Amino acid sequence: MARVIVVTSGKGGVGKTTVTAGLGRALAKKGKRIVLMDADLGLNNLDVVMDAESRVVYDILDVVENRCRPRQALVEDLVAPGLFIMPGASYDDGDKISGQNLRAIVNALSQSFDYIFIDCPAGIEVGFHRAVSAADEALVVTTPHVSALRDADKVVAIIKSYKIKASLVVNRARGDMILGQEQLSCNDISELLQIAPIGVLPEDDSINTYNCFLTDEKGKTDGDRAIDMLAENILLGTDKLFDVTKKYRGFFGGLKRSLKKIV
Ligand SMILES: Nc1ncnc2c1ncn2[C@@H]1O[C@H](COP(=O)(O)OP(=O)(O)OP(=O)(O)O)[C@@H](O)[C@H]1O
Ligand SMILES: [Mg+2]
Repeated sequence: MARVIVVTSGKGGVGKTTVTAGLGRALAKKGKRIVLMDADLGLNNLDVVMDAESRVVYDILDVVENRCRPRQALVEDLVAPGLFIMPGASYDDGDKISGQNLRAIVNALSQSFDYIFIDCPAGIEVGFHRAVSAADEALVVTTPHVSALRDADKVVAIIKSYKIKASLVVNRARGDMILGQEQLSCNDISELLQIAPIGVLPEDDSINTYNCFLTDEKGKTDGDRAIDMLAENILLGTDKLFDVTKKYRGFFGGLKRSLKKIV
């Protein structure tokens, strides 16, 4: 039976799809069989992020309307064997796809996979409820910015009413700013939102191109390491967090901080 985890946030653009895609590859590298389900109907872009757009034949609406079986709609990742994408529909007609529909697809796939991640749309409207109601666990992604935190706070409260386990992922954390007390740390955010942290990802362009299959240990960036740690926490039930401040501590770290301020 697959673990079914919705990746949600409230605020748009904080990194839900990025986290979903990165986790898919990181866990596939560990030999797990994964489905990434794009539940951001209308603004679906997981297929684009995963470079699968040109290979999409059926989408989630085709499954719901019985034009194909769930397995037929899955598109396998070119990089990571065992990682599949369930493409979202390119328009959202709220009535056509319900939470029960998503749950039925999840149930049909559950036996053949270890993890199903559901990429949730922004907001707390129908699309959010549809995605959350199909999941057993949630990752609440936020950035340290005030507007994202406020939305995450609302989302945490709503998710509590679903009685599913929720964990916090802080994205785009800046170690230099945390040390300069210009940004809240993951622990501060966790206390504020009253939700246990499971991952911290740094502000790092490499996160957008995370590809653990092409990167050996030496070539890894901080972004790669942070996603790997998050994947391991999900897999093992641990809570080791990537230290975004490490490279800004000590003499050379202080120098890096000063340089970052000037640049
Ligand atoms: N840690 C990071 N460092 C640098 N850029 C990032 C990071 N995380 C995400 N981004 C960038 O931020 C943008 C938004 O990310 P993404 O699409 O994953 O957010 P989202 O929450 O899925 O958005 P939406 O609500 O629109 O679905 C993308 O351009 C992505 O590449
Ligand atoms: Mg998205």
